[in-house]
Amino acid sequence: MPIDLSPIDTAKFAAARRAARLVESGMKVGLGTGSTAAWLVRSLGEMVRDEGLRFRAVATSSRTAALARECGIEVVSLDEAGWLDLTIDGADEFDGALNLIKGGGGAHLREKVVATASDRMVVIADAGKEVETLGAFPLPVEVIPFGWRTTRALIEEMLVGLDVLGRGAALRMNGDEPFVTDEGNHIIDLHLNRIGNPRQLALVLNQIPGVVENGLFIDIADAVVIGHGDGRVEMRDLATGGREETRFDFVGRDNIFVDGEG
Ligand code: A5P
Repeated sequence: MPIDLSPIDTAKFAAARRAARLVESGMKVGLGTGSTAAWLVRSLGEMVRDEGLRFRAVATSSRTAALARECGIEVVSLDEAGWLDLTIDGADEFDGALNLIKGGGGAHLREKVVATASDRMVVIADAGKEVETLGAFPLPVEVIPFGWRTTRALIEEMLVGLDVLGRGAALRMNGDEPFVTDEGNHIIDLHLNRIGNPRQLALVLNQIPGVVENGLFIDIADAVVIGHGDGRVEMRDLATGGREETRFDFVGRDNIFVDGEG
């Protein structure tokens, strides 16, 4: 049976597949979290199995680690790996300067640690994630469970003086319970609508006691691979301004992990 991917999955898969080609044998690679990163992990697993690719991976979440192992990828801890050659991860939003909002999947703390410990971070995303100004996507802030209501109140107070359009701050839930991250913390999602100065916001949020890390990635990403619903992929490099276009044709194929590169 041919596999019918929706346009959004086609876009995510195309971006992930192009980015997987950046991984070379011998590298130490950070693997992101989320649905786009899951396509990446599966693509890399195929390259390990069929092409003899050998690399060591550091996963940004327990679920990515489990999927990577399932796909035959060697997973090590960040401390075992040390400095990484490359991290490839999804994003919830990215702007023209490749500043990001991340953490929709609740993994931005480990994601930021891993991306920062890498020579290069490449973002993989469908075209719908590109924005002129960050902030339509709620900004995740990881906080320690102790006194989280006080931490939330401090965040709300701090937002009054900043260039944002909304100030809603909601504890992320998992059913009836607060969502718990891999590090045992909670997440407060900030409904800001528009973030006028992401750099300033990222700095002041992390000054608040109880805040562990916010989901703004400023000056961390080096390149973005943008997938489209028709299989087109655009890769943009921030430093060089270079752009490359590719097209994948796997729509309707029996096995998207066997055929399809065009
Ligand atoms: C995980 O915490 C996030 O940072 C993800 O990278 C981000 O939410 C993108 O996820 P999708 O690829 O599922 O859209």
